[in-house]
Amino acid sequence: MDRSRQTSFTAIAALFVLAFAGQALAEGAVARPAADPARGHALYQSRCAVCHGVHGDGKGPVASSLEPRPRDFTTGQYRIRSTPPGQPATGADLYRTISRGMNGTAMPAWSGLPSADRWALVDYLQSLSPRFAGDEPASIAIPPAPPVTSDAIARGRLVYERLTCNTCHGETGRGDGPAGAALKDTSGRPVRPYDMTTGRPKRGNAPEDVFVAVRAGIEGTPMPGFDGTVTDDDTWDLVRYVQSLARDASPPYAGQTEGTASVDVPVVAAATAAPDEAVARGAVVYGMFCFACHGVDGKGPIGANFVADPTRLAKSDEVLLKTIREGMTGTVGVMPPWGPVINEGQQRDVLAYIRASFGAPTAPP
Ligand code: HEC
Ligand code: HEC
Ligand code: HEC
Repeated sequence: MDRSRQTSFTAIAALFVLAFAGQALAEGAVARPAADPARGHALYQSRCAVCHGVHGDGKGPVASSLEPRPRDFTTGQYRIRSTPPGQPATGADLYRTISRGMNGTAMPAWSGLPSADRWALVDYLQSLSPRFAGDEPASIAIPPAPPVTSDAIARGRLVYERLTCNTCHGETGRGDGPAGAALKDTSGRPVRPYDMTTGRPKRGNAPEDVFVAVRAGIEGTPMPGFDGTVTDDDTWDLVRYVQSLARDASPPYAGQTEGTASVDVPVVAAATAAPDEAVARGAVVYGMFCFACHGVDGKGPIGANFVADPTRLAKSDEVLLKTIREGMTGTVGVMPPWGPVINEGQQRDVLAYIRASFGAPTAPP
């Protein structure tokens, strides 16, 4: 496989913004090291198999309670690609998704793992499908973004109609078009067209992200790729129109700087008696990494039920922080280790949130 293409990724990866209390982490993309699928396999078993399955087939123990379901890697089909329709994703595409997670889904951002580990995971995932045996295809070129103007947005509306985006995404972009309700993905699961009023596409909301989503399409779903069907100028107009539909849209959209992307998190209502800052920050961490198993209400469905079993939180901070860091295998299931994913401050914040929301607000003596 052609590793030299990774250099183009370095330019794309640049910076991404995490929702954590003003912290910005550099994504730290580096040249791809020599392939190490065996190392990737070991990492995969401890970090990913709980959702994606020990064989990479998407059938992990918690998979059936997640919507959308975790990806089945044996198909070699990826939603987030930078390549023309019909072409497989690049290694850099997978690296980027692993690093950034997917907006509004249970797929976490693994930016806390060392870069070499993330590449080893890419090697392992690619080894699961023969689609990655050949040379890597080139990514779709993204020409420089023209300025956002009301004319561009108006022209984009016409392109939206001409390309019949509205049949799936609806007249107002809410994902409620006439063809939208009955759509299924290639595994037969229902899939909803993106609701453009949220301003939170799965791959990120930089204008370049939306540009590539439209041109590459979303593999494994009915969303076609329009590469070759639409000019660069028309695509940019379309991007401006799509982004103008977000509820809080005002250029450069949802509080972002053009050219940077942000992956934000499901919002968990902070039902808290002690609304201090650590708890508020912890709510964001919980909404990003914990709610899929522990529930928005702390009652499961897959992780420990903090409310029904008070012994869970009747442990010292020290003990619980160690569990959060290192994970645990107990009577209920597997709790993944979060040490490589969230830093120590975030571990404390999320524990503060859990205590304030679901149990004894202070650690027992
Ligand atoms: C808590 C559950 C969970 C864990 C843990 C998890 N994932 Fe995912 N992952 C998901 C879900 C759910 C999706 C599918 C989201 C969608 O289709 O919108 C996904 C999708 C993906 C994708 C597919 C992106 C695409 O373009 O289709 C990749 C790659 C991926 N995960 C890699 C990993 C790796 C590597 C790990 C371990 C380091 C991991 N995941 C751990 C839930 C998880
Ligand atoms: C046949 C139905 C269909 C048509 C036509 C269609 N889409 Fe989609 N689109 C979808 C579905 C389904 C998804 C969600 C896929 C997912 O979440 O896995 C989607 C997702 C998207 C996304 C979100 C990408 C992301 O990162 O989450 C954007 C942006 C988008 N479509 C734009 C468009 C535009 C612009 C057009 C017209 C040029 C269009 N779509 C035409 C079905 C369609
Ligand atoms: C993939 C599912 C999953 C995710 C995601 C998850 N957990 Fe857990 N967690 C579990 C399971 C399962 C248990 C119970 C293990 C057992 O006792 O069988 C647990 C137990 C716990 C406990 C109780 C430990 C004890 O001693 O009883 C704490 C605290 C906890 N998790 C915190 C978190 C935090 C914080 C996050 C997010 C950073 C998180 N969990 C994310 C599955 C998960």
